[in-house]
Amino acid sequence: MRIAATIAEVRAWRSQAPEPVGLVPTMGYLHSGHRSLVERARSENRSVAVSLFVNPTQFGPQEDLASYPRDFERDRDLLEAAGCDLLFAPQAAELYPAGCETRVDVGSVATPLEGARRPGHFAGVATIVLKLLNIVRPRKAYFGQKDAQQLRVIQRMVRDLDLDVEIVACPTVREPDGLAMSIRNTYLDPAQRAAATVLIRALRAVAAAHSGGERDAERLRQGARRVLDAEPLARTDYVSVADATSLAELDRVEGPALASLAVHVGRARLIDNLLLDA
Ligand code: PAJ
Repeated sequence: MRIAATIAEVRAWRSQAPEPVGLVPTMGYLHSGHRSLVERARSENRSVAVSLFVNPTQFGPQEDLASYPRDFERDRDLLEAAGCDLLFAPQAAELYPAGCETRVDVGSVATPLEGARRPGHFAGVATIVLKLLNIVRPRKAYFGQKDAQQLRVIQRMVRDLDLDVEIVACPTVREPDGLAMSIRNTYLDPAQRAAATVLIRALRAVAAAHSGGERDAERLRQGARRVLDAEPLARTDYVSVADATSLAELDRVEGPALASLAVHVGRARLIDNLLLDA
């Protein structure tokens, strides 16, 4: 595995890498969710690049940028074992030199849900992902359904800006009790960790009601809120039942929908989602 810290090193690697090239963008501190993306990329490409960069422009001033966990040696070993060919781990000044001001605004799909609570977050995500796509120029890039709105923001950017890359959506990897794997789970103490299963329990309540024929979106949201309200260590931020592509809130669920939630447990703000198929 090659390790690159500069854009020039990535371009030199890229010029001789066997095609096709797959890219997995990450912020490091890797877990089995990230590994599943790397394995998928490995199975579909002759060359696999992984970026590891805690992107400052997607963190708000009150968010966890400074305390975001980092462990480069462990990540490097995990990626080596997973069959990664190039690890791109730049410093912030490499990607954001002084005077770098351009931001990508993807419009309406970035405004509700996470976008409404985290101003500027998706402009930061779209900008760094566009830069990484331009630096690595992969045939395919891999993203987790765990961050469902992020995935849609990137799909929209690729469509609207005519980017020549295929975005591959990968399923959410979960702990045995259903909790979606996330860095922010490491912020939980044992009681909070037990309480955090409330997200998947609430989402499964929505999915069960939907399979049972409930099509009133507000009643589906209420079912999730009842489960969340019964957990004293959880404080609900939002419950959404939205169109699966536009993320506009629904009155009636007539086609593919996305049920998603954000919930505070201790100092962690956790998100999760399930697709409701038509
Ligand atoms: P990060 O949180 O490190 O996640 C990297 C990728 O792993 C994302 O596509 C995310 O959706 C995926 N992922 C995280 N947890 C997962 C899980 N439990 N199952 C499946 N996939 C999972 O998301 C980011 O970094 C950044 O915003 C980034 C796209 C790298 C831009 O900075």
